Amino acid sequence: MSEEIYLTGITTTGTPHIGNYVGAIRPGIAASKDLSTKHFYFLADYHSLAKNEDPDRIGQSTLEIAAAWMALGLDTDHAYFYRQSDIPEIPELTWILHGMTAKGLMNRAHSYKASVQANVEGGNKDPDKGVTMALYSYPILMAADILMFKSTKVPVGRDQKQHVEMARDIAQRFNHHYGETFVLPEPVIGENTAVLKGLDGRKMSKSYNNTIPLFADEKRLRKLIMKIKTNSLEPGEPKDTADSTLFDIYKAFATEEETREIEKRYAEGIAWGEMKQLLFEYVNEDLKPAREKYERLVADPGIVEAELRKGAERARERSAPFLAEIRDRIGIRRLG
Ligand code: TRP
Repeated sequence: MSEEIYLTGITTTGTPHIGNYVGAIRPGIAASKDLSTKHFYFLADYHSLAKNEDPDRIGQSTLEIAAAWMALGLDTDHAYFYRQSDIPEIPELTWILHGMTAKGLMNRAHSYKASVQANVEGGNKDPDKGVTMALYSYPILMAADILMFKSTKVPVGRDQKQHVEMARDIAQRFNHHYGETFVLPEPVIGENTAVLKGLDGRKMSKSYNNTIPLFADEKRLRKLIMKIKTNSLEPGEPKDTADSTLFDIYKAFATEEETREIEKRYAEGIAWGEMKQLLFEYVNEDLKPAREKYERLVADPGIVEAELRKGAERARERSAPFLAEIRDRIGIRRLG
């Protein structure tokens, strides 16, 4: 059997938060230690255009996300770690794939449908109001990311599963039309990775503005943890670990034994204030060494830039010859 290729992208629209860490960065770095598989992790900066972000924010987010992965110990000699916009073959492939993508397929994308639904519910006459082509064809760019490197496995959150399936559909259609070219990717949904809730008890997400930044400084981290919503049970009253954001976050960081110990404390009626303090101390200790490295990297972006360029160079050793092959297949050829 040929080797597995894992690939995943991170859209550069925010500051990495502890939900990203637990759900994607930590498992990604752990997986990349398996030397029998190849790993591609990249910053999906062109994807951020679908949301028309502020340009400075995109740059800052790229730096912060890259620095976070590096500070947390990604082995960039083994894993391919690059910025999407440094690989010119990706936008080129995106256009090529447009020729093999049914418009109807894009009509069915959840991300697009959600925008339309919001317009309809908001009483807008135009259901496509505010929908750019970048948002509409977002799945095609994502398909190019995936197919360019012959990925077999694509670890994503549940909300992105459909996009990976679309990449598969597009690849199949291309292969059928032009002959076997692309490897068919499969989504990998981390069933066991925790989805953390944020300060207000909803899913931790930059779109809800309820996140705890992964490398918030000590003071801020403490302040945010103190803000996490709890119920109004008094100290001494037994508390339920189910549906407790504080407990879920603790569990995502602690060992099993430590978690069992906290379950006991809940049953005994630990005060919310004490639990918050305990959680703060745990998370703070855990993140401290990486936070120091992170701060050094963010203060010295040249180091991060050099790392991303190295990654792009390695990635292009694969994408450039493959794209030449693809162009030949579709009839974009030199004359004579
Ligand atoms: N769309 C993904 C997200 O928002 C990010 C992404 C871009 C991606 N390209 C990808 C994920 C390719 C996996 C594979 O989360």
